[in-house]
Amino acid sequence: MSATPPPVPRESSAPYDVAPPGPTADAGYRDVPAAEGGRAGRGWWDANAQEYLDEHGAFLGAADFCWCPEGLRERDARLLGDVAGLRVLEVGAGAAQCSRWLVTQGAHVVATDVSRGMLAAGAALDRTTGVRVPAVQADARRLPFAEDAFDVAFTSFGAIPFVPDAEAIHREVARVLRPGGTWTFSVTHPVRWAFPDDPGTHGLTANRSYFDRRPYVETDDAGRVVYAEYHRTLGDHVREVVAAGLELRDVVEPGWPADNTEVWGGWGPVRGAYLPGTAIFRARLPG
Ligand SMILES: C[S@@+](CC[C@H](N)C(=O)[O-])C[C@H]1O[C@@H](n2cnc3c(N)ncnc32)[C@H](O)[C@@H]1O
Repeated sequence: MSATPPPVPRESSAPYDVAPPGPTADAGYRDVPAAEGGRAGRGWWDANAQEYLDEHGAFLGAADFCWCPEGLRERDARLLGDVAGLRVLEVGAGAAQCSRWLVTQGAHVVATDVSRGMLAAGAALDRTTGVRVPAVQADARRLPFAEDAFDVAFTSFGAIPFVPDAEAIHREVARVLRPGGTWTFSVTHPVRWAFPDDPGTHGLTANRSYFDRRPYVETDDAGRVVYAEYHRTLGDHVREVVAAGLELRDVVEPGWPADNTEVWGGWGPVRGAYLPGTAIFRARLPG
């Protein structure tokens, strides 16, 4: 594996002057134009960055690598292997807590995210921790890096759920990885789509079709999409990864540890005892 630090990005990959979203007036599962749904994430994460970190920042840690609400940490799981000296890309990094931990492990990391608000929160964590992560604002579907620029790419719940065309992310990651490089990403376990997003017992009874691909969408008073989250079945994820020319090597489904009392949205110990909440896909670029 290469020991050269990753290159400086060629240019920013998208214009970032989106209007802030209005308050949510309507929510439900319905089809919306792909461009509108894919664009909503940026404004939503900008507007909600601080609230999100107030709620989940302590659980995530400022310089720690957490794969999921189950609390699986990279220091224990070692899904990326030994990263010392490697060029690592994080997409949908949020406040870059994972990247910050990887810096402490000797990796040459670049964190990317589409949201200026999340990256600003990351810069604040750089200052408080004293661990600096080079960060670039970029849509994961248009990465501003050259081919073969990275040995390892990953995301912990970033980008993929918020775009209608995740295959574009896999293609971009495959492009910037060197042959033999790895791509690891965690997402909500697809089976959860069939259940209410409720951490209690109500969340244990399926009430919608696992096969219904319509996104969960929130709109404001003017009918504008302010949040969109996309479902893919297990087969959809596999197909998209393989179509990008990547080899799928494993799908990790973390169980809920008995000592984890965290309730995070629809995740928590009650449902964790019965249902998987997270799937972590491990892929590799052949070569
Ligand atoms: C749930 S957070 C995950 C980040 C971090 N691992 C965490 O747990 O806080 C989702 C992140 O995906 C980012 N995101 C959404 N759509 C994106 C896109 N198209 N390209 C890059 N990042 C995107 C959001 O801005 C947000 O920071």
